[in-house]
Amino acid sequence: MSTKEQVLAALAKEDAISGEYLARKLGVSRSAVWKAIEALRADGCTIEAVTNRGYRLMEEAKIVTEASIRRALTARELGRRIEVHDELDSTNIRAKALAMQGAANGTLICARGQTAGRGRFGRSFHAPMDAGAFMSLVLRPEVSAERAVLLTSMAAVATARAIERLADVRVEIKWVNDLYVGGRKVCGILSEAGMDFESGRLEYAVVGIGVNLARMKFPEPLREIATSIGNECGAQVSPSRLIAEICNCLEPLYETFDPIDFMQESRVRSNVLGRRIVVLRGNERFSAEAVDIDDCGGLVIRTARGLETVSSGEISVRWEDAR
Ligand code: BTN
Repeated sequence: MSTKEQVLAALAKEDAISGEYLARKLGVSRSAVWKAIEALRADGCTIEAVTNRGYRLMEEAKIVTEASIRRALTARELGRRIEVHDELDSTNIRAKALAMQGAANGTLICARGQTAGRGRFGRSFHAPMDAGAFMSLVLRPEVSAERAVLLTSMAAVATARAIERLADVRVEIKWVNDLYVGGRKVCGILSEAGMDFESGRLEYAVVGIGVNLARMKFPEPLREIATSIGNECGAQVSPSRLIAEICNCLEPLYETFDPIDFMQESRVRSNVLGRRIVVLRGNERFSAEAVDIDDCGGLVIRTARGLETVSSGEISVRWEDAR
């Protein structure tokens, strides 16, 4: 790790820390610490000099840190243990590895950026450094595997609420795992599960959430379909604040695990219901009308064959009519 990265890691753990202590701890000169602080400020970190206490990384910083997540966290179980990484291949991969080693319910993994962010159906998820909130939660819900499918809808509603608390935007849900603002995708959710084959029970679930925050230009294939909160309303939302807020909004829904608390909202927020869609199932593709979302998270569609309920693991949908 460079001195800059070591200084950032130390600031992220403490409320405030003196330059002298930092220099001693890292075995470098005070001027090296000062240079690192200036370089971090140039990167976009807001670092305040607090009289008699030293440097303090402010929560508005664009960079996700454990201390600033904790400052905004009111959830008790979700985020009890937190790992923040500079760069990971994927927070979901890390969370699954930890879950297999027995990580507790509510363990939160975050990264400033991902080199191999994962999406549904083997797709990739664009997650450049400091451009968004990239997080995964290890969850151990005491429910059947069929009911655990609701985690994605639950996380979608919680994330929509959290975004709206911090930015002046209206968030829609494209069944079942994408959040949209202004007609473009701002967030993707990927839920993965680990099963115990002996008992057929769910051992753990990993819910990964990626929200685009920074104002940015997306690369070509994404330009027409993706956006960020910054692009939509100009607000600079702190990734740490948003990650904490998502945990705060998700915890009460997770505790009761009752569809009544979130499924109606997921219907009201839906930008699919009542519209003509193209359903993609393996190599098959057919046209349908999206009629309803049932309390098990299934999408009720009307085709030439009549009404049918499809599950999220099986299909993905596109709008037939561009709005
Ligand atoms: C999708 O769009 O299909 C889902 C994208 C999910 C992206 C998030 S970013 C944090 C977490 N880690 C990953 O590798 N994926 C999820």
